[in-house]
Amino acid sequence: MSERPLEAPEQYPLADLDEWEALLRERYPQPGEKSSFRDYGTDVRPAVREFYRLNHRHQTLDFVRAKERQYLDRNHRVMGIWEAMEFLNTLVDDSDPDTELTQIEHLMQAAEAIRTDGHPRWFILTGLIHDLGKILCLFGEPQWAVVGDTFPVGCRYSDKVVFPEFFQENPDSNVADYQTECGIYELGCGLDRVHMSWGHDEYLYHVVKDHLPEEGLAMIRYHSFYAAHREGAYTHLMNEPDGRRMEWVRAFNPYDLYSKGHEPPDVEALRPYYEDLIAEFFPAKLAW
Ligand SMILES: [Fe+2]
Repeated sequence: MSERPLEAPEQYPLADLDEWEALLRERYPQPGEKSSFRDYGTDVRPAVREFYRLNHRHQTLDFVRAKERQYLDRNHRVMGIWEAMEFLNTLVDDSDPDTELTQIEHLMQAAEAIRTDGHPRWFILTGLIHDLGKILCLFGEPQWAVVGDTFPVGCRYSDKVVFPEFFQENPDSNVADYQTECGIYELGCGLDRVHMSWGHDEYLYHVVKDHLPEEGLAMIRYHSFYAAHREGAYTHLMNEPDGRRMEWVRAFNPYDLYSKGHEPPDVEALRPYYEDLIAEFFPAKLAW
């Protein structure tokens, strides 16, 4: 199954989902590496700009509420974690299959990097599963409703969100109640009460929220919220626990951005270790 259905090709500007993550690595290079990212206007491929334009144009509060109604009952599939990894692996894209790693290989690279650094088992497991929400693509969702930096909807947009100028095209820009600093929320209400733009973070959080410690859940739910965890925006919506959650997200972020190299892990050799780890935290089947 392709992530770029033949119908509505304009909804799928990216050659693959990794194109968004490649842009993140340019924006946030490893410590000691120089950013090659200078100007959104000239440095960014037109397809990536178009992807962000669609994302910022269409992620309205109404859209997010509709997706929450559609997905948070979790009546789309019943699968175990390993089964979901294999399902995500059926997502093929337009890039060269000889040079690109599979989705399972990407997930294992992140998990293995966390394991190498001696982190706890729940942290390793979080690395393994953190992108499984990308199966939204296989349910027919367009790229801009699966990946991309996430941001709160229903309140004023921060100029710390990448490509803030594209928010002018979002109909919510013309709703006065949504454009005060806190919008429909209250100062310090906590991110749990805030509707985030819809994507793979929020979806997976709801699938796994009864099974991982809150540190891992924060990493999953906010790993694409770069305006907050890398740029320090939106603190006025956060409560005290959210401050700690952002610390955990920051601890996770290097494994998300920098562990995905070109050397594929030996999936079959590692599989027994990860099947044990999954069974330690998760039931055999989950509702997706
Ligand atoms: Fe992700």
